[in-house]
Amino acid sequence: MAPKTIILLLSLLTRSLLIEAKPEDSKAFPAYYYPYEGEETLPLLDIESFLPAALDATVIDVDDYGAEGGAADDTTAFEQAWEAACSSARPVTLMVRKNASYHLKPVTFSGPCESDVSVMIEGTIQASSDRADWKGKNRRLWILFSNIENLRVGGGGIVDGNGRTWWQKSCKIDKSQPCKDAPTTLTFRSCNGLTVENLSLKDSPQVHIKFDNCNNVTATTLNIAAPEKSPNTDGIHVTETQNMQINDCVIGTGDDCISIVNGSHGVKANNISCGPGHGISIGSLGEKNSKAQVSDVTVDTAHLNGTTNGVRIKTWQGGKGYAKNILFQNIDMVDVQNPIIIDQNYCDKKTKCTPQKSNVQISNVHYKNIKGSSTSKIAINFNCSKSSPCRGIILDNINLILSDEDTDGAQSFCRNVEWIKKGVVVPPPCKQTIKSDTDEYGELMYVI
Ligand SMILES: *[C@@H]1O[C@H](CO)[C@@H](O)[C@H](O)[C@H]1NC(C)=O
Ligand SMILES: *[C@@H]1O[C@H](CO)[C@@H](O)[C@H](O)[C@H]1NC(C)=O
Ligand SMILES: *[C@@H]1O[C@H](CO)[C@@H](O)[C@H](O)[C@H]1NC(C)=O
Ligand SMILES: *[C@@H]1O[C@H](CO)[C@@H](O)[C@H](O)[C@H]1NC(C)=O
Ligand SMILES: *[C@@H]1O[C@H](CO)[C@@H](O)[C@H](O)[C@H]1NC(C)=O
Ligand SMILES: *[C@@H]1O[C@H](CO)[C@@H](O)[C@H](O)[C@H]1NC(C)=O
Ligand SMILES: *[C@@H]1O[C@H](CO)[C@@H](O)[C@H](O)[C@H]1NC(C)=O
Repeated sequence: MAPKTIILLLSLLTRSLLIEAKPEDSKAFPAYYYPYEGEETLPLLDIESFLPAALDATVIDVDDYGAEGGAADDTTAFEQAWEAACSSARPVTLMVRKNASYHLKPVTFSGPCESDVSVMIEGTIQASSDRADWKGKNRRLWILFSNIENLRVGGGGIVDGNGRTWWQKSCKIDKSQPCKDAPTTLTFRSCNGLTVENLSLKDSPQVHIKFDNCNNVTATTLNIAAPEKSPNTDGIHVTETQNMQINDCVIGTGDDCISIVNGSHGVKANNISCGPGHGISIGSLGEKNSKAQVSDVTVDTAHLNGTTNGVRIKTWQGGKGYAKNILFQNIDMVDVQNPIIIDQNYCDKKTKCTPQKSNVQISNVHYKNIKGSSTSKIAINFNCSKSSPCRGIILDNINLILSDEDTDGAQSFCRNVEWIKKGVVVPPPCKQTIKSDTDEYGELMYVI
């Protein structure tokens, strides 16, 4: 609640109580007169004790709309509580009580709202485990927040995607199944001025949190967990979203820790811990010959432990557009399979992907202060496409060694890439490169 609102409510309460306390004087007060101005009686009032009453006035509890937090389905209660909150004339908190576990089918919370809404999830919200509840509905969505300005979602509670039944039917687990979408736990679509904080998410059918077409977003202190073998369970997925901060998150799932895809610009991730999972990824980009645009992405201070990739950029053959101005810095890795990787031949489907005439252009990617251990020999892998080589790749102060110290040292691989190095870079630049030119930094640039 805005401090202004609290002050207003308090002053109204104080005033009416003062008036009640001195009925003989009340008629003397004009409507605009604040009796406590210079009033001797003020210290007798225990203002503290009025505070909860003032707060209650703008709290909407899902329980008051019939939510039980027991075995029954609470979807309708949540929908009605949202309607009330979203149409409130003043800022309001939608409360999901502590120590209760609420059951929800797919549900949409839409704006625009009359005032700013905070959703406090202090208890647990659990998805229906019956896939039939998605019949006739969008299989990609469980909880959707759409078209809301200045929304805050937090509360320290748990959002449980209950994904086991979906994983079992995934084509990646059961090869006889067709490949179909499964729900994302929390989707934020077209939300500006959004904050999502202080929540635990777990066991999503697929992506845990997706930001789609949002602007001015903060995602902070989120804890996301799903089994290493759960398919497509990305932690945080960012698409067509601008001006975003992702801070202080701990993410261990079966897919990307953070994935940033088309239409995302100005995304900063800071203090992120990943593992298990597939690491931090820009992409995939350019699937089905599409045009992708991603720029100004910073990952600063990350710890990756036991992930298949560290920092990765992945594009499909045949795509167009760009991924540029990307900085990965202050990153440490423990037992990561592909610590630094650009893969321009990404192919995540059953049939083989063939080389094509175009690819998403990758340029101006800066890797700085990255250290740790690799479980595969190739610790730095720049596998770029012939149609659009990777340009402006800077390696600056890199130290990646093999996890298994018995084997020969780590190596780098490059194909169709120009790169320069600054400071010490271990493993050293690819041996099979041809010296081409010196660049504006006065250092060697390698081209295959
Ligand atoms: C939640 O449960 C804990 C432990 O049983 C208890 O101490 C606490 O008072 C409960 N909180 C609420 C809000 O009911
Ligand atoms: C997270 O939520 C819990 C429960 O509401 C609260 O006690 C705690 O202070 C919150 N932490 C932050 C960082 O907001
Ligand atoms: C971004 O959102 C924050 C919090 O919701 C708000 O205070 C700030 O003014 C917004 N900034 C812009 C540029 O919209
Ligand atoms: C980094 O994030 C973790 C997990 O949320 C938190 O415990 C830690 O305090 C954060 N570190 C800094 C420097 O903020
Ligand atoms: C990529 O993002 C842009 C900008 O938001 C959007 O207009 C375009 O439709 C997106 N392309 C695909 C293939 O989703
Ligand atoms: C990495 O993860 C393993 C397995 O969970 C754990 O035992 C180890 O302490 C972690 N190491 C670091 C440096 O985080
Ligand atoms: C580079 O990409 C090609 C085409 O996908 C693949 O066959 C090859 O194994 C990759 N090389 C490395 C070292 O990743």
